[in-house]
Amino acid sequence: MGFCSFFSHRLSVFSRVSMVFLIVFALLTVCVTADDKESGSFLTLNDVPAAEAFIDSVDVAVIGFFENETGRGYNEFLAAAKQMDKLPVALCSEKEVWAKYGIVSDTISIFRKADLHQEHLKLSEPKKIDTDGLTRFLTLNNIQFVTEYNQATAVGLFQSEVKTHVLLIAKSGSSDSDPLQQLFRDVAQKYAGKMLFVLVNGKEKPNARVLEYFGLKSRDLPRIGIYDGGSDKKWLMKKGEITNERLQNFCDSFLDGELQKQNPGGKTEL
Ligand SMILES: *[C@@H]1O[C@H](CO)[C@@H](O)[C@H](O)[C@H]1NC(C)=O
Repeated sequence: MGFCSFFSHRLSVFSRVSMVFLIVFALLTVCVTADDKESGSFLTLNDVPAAEAFIDSVDVAVIGFFENETGRGYNEFLAAAKQMDKLPVALCSEKEVWAKYGIVSDTISIFRKADLHQEHLKLSEPKKIDTDGLTRFLTLNNIQFVTEYNQATAVGLFQSEVKTHVLLIAKSGSSDSDPLQQLFRDVAQKYAGKMLFVLVNGKEKPNARVLEYFGLKSRDLPRIGIYDGGSDKKWLMKKGEITNERLQNFCDSFLDGELQKQNPGGKTEL
């Protein structure tokens, strides 16, 4: 039983694949239209420096490259973006910017720093576009330097090419004022493209499986663990204060193979 069992008790590798398929399928087939026309509330990128600054300023940037407001999926995109009110979204019709990012026709693009990934959804391709599907697309692609674990983000995390997850299993959800989460985020930025940093709120009932998987009880938290999707193995950082240095040493020991050598079974150390 692997880490994927976190988001569904009956999930095997195969059903994980089919779950991803279902989401993509839903994205392609369901058809609902929305009438929101509120482009006024979105940032418009008029040149390359503006686009670069926008992408640079956030963990995850979403740009709707639409030639004009009559484009296929335009209203659905705005409606979906409005639902994702914390996600930075901009619009761009400037061809000079399109060229810079290799855009040739109306496209919704996601630029991610955590795994150095760009996701492009071409709207000209023959598939149906609806607001719910686009909202799901944005949700599961919203992989930040620190992503809070839940059923929706789990799908995106497992789709990433970066297969190693560093978990902070704590007793609270995402909070900007939590010093431990800040430390976690600081370290996460140093491992962009190598490891994904995931916050697991141990107080959320569905996350009990994560604790179980690592052999932890609520009273043991907070703890740091690594899950490696390549080998489907897990390691737990030894008990003690979680400092920047200890966390980096733990991550480095995985990346240089030392952790795997010391503990090839990927057993947990309590
Ligand atoms: C609006 O954009 C579409 C592509 O989405 C294009 O085919 C159409 O010619 C454009 N219309 C105008 C008036 O520019």
